[in-house]
Amino acid sequence: YGNTGSCDSKITYLDGDNGILRHRGYPIDQLARYSDFVETAYLVIYGELPTPTQRKDFGLLLRKNAAVETQMQKILEGFPTNASPMAMLSALVSALPAYHADLATNNFEKDMKHFDLAAAIAISKIRTFVAMIYRYQKGLPFMFPKQELPFCDNFLHMMFSEPYKDYIAMPEVAKALNLVLLLHADHEQNCSTSTVRMVGSSAANLFTSISAGVCALSGPLHGGANVAVMHMLQSIHDEGDDGTRFIAAAKSGTKGNRLMGFGHAVYRNFDPRAKIIGEACDEVLNKLGIDDPLLSIAKNLEQAALKDDYFISRKLYPNVDFYSGIIMRALGIPMNMFTTMFAIGRAPGYIANWREVASNPKGRIYRPRQIYVGHTKRDYVSIAKRT
Ligand code: CMC
Repeated sequence: YGNTGSCDSKITYLDGDNGILRHRGYPIDQLARYSDFVETAYLVIYGELPTPTQRKDFGLLLRKNAAVETQMQKILEGFPTNASPMAMLSALVSALPAYHADLATNNFEKDMKHFDLAAAIAISKIRTFVAMIYRYQKGLPFMFPKQELPFCDNFLHMMFSEPYKDYIAMPEVAKALNLVLLLHADHEQNCSTSTVRMVGSSAANLFTSISAGVCALSGPLHGGANVAVMHMLQSIHDEGDDGTRFIAAAKSGTKGNRLMGFGHAVYRNFDPRAKIIGEACDEVLNKLGIDDPLLSIAKNLEQAALKDDYFISRKLYPNVDFYSGIIMRALGIPMNMFTTMFAIGRAPGYIANWREVASNPKGRIYRPRQIYVGHTKRDYVSIAKRT
């Protein structure tokens, strides 16, 4: 797919050589500075920044659809508590059509009539699912969402409140979470978004298509990279290395030794999200008074790699995952939940891409061809004659 424009899209513009990322024309740094996750989600999905009324209505729809049917808890409770959070998340998302059959008919025309509601359910409930998965793994009771709370505060409440004591998020924490989610809102035809489009092109409903995207996101080269970065930083820390040994190993080209959080399938320059999140990392940790040794290791690694011929000649720069894990850790989100956080952030991108597929009157099922490199024709040999 490296040289294939696999679809027409009006959602996200990405110029990898120059490190440019824009959603619906708006540069990512402006959105990061002035917008928030919910507003950017609206922009990505509907194509325009919302008017005050649209923003209010969208927020209300998200708030109204945050709670999860109690039967869905049983799906979660069927999992071993140490199961992968992404496996649990994809199972919960793929169960959504069963609970909203009228919105998920596998008929584009019918499903598009209910699109606004289905989109709000997907965004809001994926967030609730993630909080539920965290609580389930910790053996804690589920916390119901609170209608009066904004999106990120509500998530933090569902994650960290106790039945006898509300967790009140510090404004810095909610702001940082907004930023992390916003920076993940969409990213052109990445592996999971292409998967959503691929599955959606068969007229599969929105929820089913998103659940396929969640599965694609789970891999360590995609959404799992933020976890891999933290493992890498932690092992460097544990070994007392300043990063020099690790860089040497990464350059050796052996499998399993890549400098995680570096390089990108499209960017041949700084990932603009990495710049924003790297700066935010310092700010957030300072404000929260956290001194994380992994942050200094990350900075040393970055500086060393940016001066190293191996990385320079291959145009390998930090990507968004290089610093996102450090921020999430500072917010109290455990490492095994990082990829699920990516899924909350990426939901608007999945939805917007599915919408493009579903509303394209000239759309056809996606069916790429291949370059066949197998045997030419040969005749069947009976089993007795095979050695
Ligand atoms: N560390 C060391 N060497 C690397 C790295 C790395 N992180 N990334 C690429 N290379 C080497 C690669 O081995 C190849 O070397 P050579 O030319 O000697 O064979 C060369 O650089 C070019 O690789 P590429 O074609 O740019 O890489 P790719 O497009 O096949 O893979 C990637 C892109 C993101 C999978 C890869 O850079 C990687 O594995 N990075 C680490 C994992 C990571 O951080 N992933 C998150 C991506 S951003 C979030 C998202 O979109 O999901």
